[in-house]
Amino acid sequence: MNLHPVPAFPTLRPRRLRQSAALRRLVGETHLNAAQLVLPLFVRGGRKLRRPINAMPGVFQLSPDEMLREATRAQALGVPAVLLFGIPNRKDNQASGAYASNGIVQQAVRLLKRELPQLLVITDVCLCEYMAHGHCGIVQHGKAGARILNDPTLKLLARAAVSHAEAGADIVAPSDMMDGRVAAIRQALDRAGFSDTPIMSYAAKFASAYYGPFREAAESTPQFGDRRSYQMDAGNANEALREVALDLQEGADMVMVKPALAYLDILHRVKTTFGYPTAAYAVSAEYSMVKAAAARGWIDERAVTLESLLAMRRAGADIIITYAAADAAKWLGE
Ligand code: PBG
Ligand code: ZN
Repeated sequence: MNLHPVPAFPTLRPRRLRQSAALRRLVGETHLNAAQLVLPLFVRGGRKLRRPINAMPGVFQLSPDEMLREATRAQALGVPAVLLFGIPNRKDNQASGAYASNGIVQQAVRLLKRELPQLLVITDVCLCEYMAHGHCGIVQHGKAGARILNDPTLKLLARAAVSHAEAGADIVAPSDMMDGRVAAIRQALDRAGFSDTPIMSYAAKFASAYYGPFREAAESTPQFGDRRSYQMDAGNANEALREVALDLQEGADMVMVKPALAYLDILHRVKTTFGYPTAAYAVSAEYSMVKAAAARGWIDERAVTLESLLAMRRAGADIIITYAAADAAKWLGE
């Protein structure tokens, strides 16, 4: 009988598994799905209002009716969640609009939960959009300049989170980077009867130039100084893990790393170290850069966007917050 000779060594050919699209999908390690995406939305008072953001083509400040349209479209494409930011009519030094029961975000939440009950509504909990000075906390002016006060700020953040939960928010997401805010918010939610409302904390949030276009969208540019006394230095990875550990100890249900693409190492370490549901926030300038290069015909917007989102998944993101959520969901469904 004539048997095939058995090779002394198996031939090492990784390309065997790359021969067809079906085979590549079968052995694919990482999957990107619309169900993992969150769409940020900027809402302000008014009707039929769609104010474009200069550096973010396709992103608008929306009046509640237009916000509902965007949310409806995103949900129809398979996006399960939105993240709401509010732009109030008036700002002050106590961020009153952040916790007003009829504030813009509170109104938007009620509208979304009434019209699209299946859509998850996440609210950004911060004060910067509501403060005249644009900082994420209460400011004290002294001889040595301005300071952002930590503990007095916690009370306002907790009030904001409770007001969002009262309006019907499914998840609250504190983005201020004050120490102890997750514990303060958890305690306030529990006391107000919202012990089932999860907290997604912006746990490792870096002081980043990638937030530039967002500050135009949210009208939250600090009027003096910067955010370096509360957001993290770009070079610090161990500190990021400590920040995440603290937020988890304080009761965070999910944690976030922000920005995303330039911080994939942090994302990976956070996911492998703690194993909690982990979100990546692909921030405004990440979106702007892709849009700008694509508009010049220098890159393929769709391919670059999907590759970047897949890279965030590979690094460890369970959830990705991106301004391209609706587009990506559409592309993934094609
Ligand atoms: C404010 C906040 C910022 C972002 C989300 N929440 C900006 C900042 O810290 O200045 C950034 C989002 C983006 O750039 O897309 N607390
Ligand atoms: Zn803020």
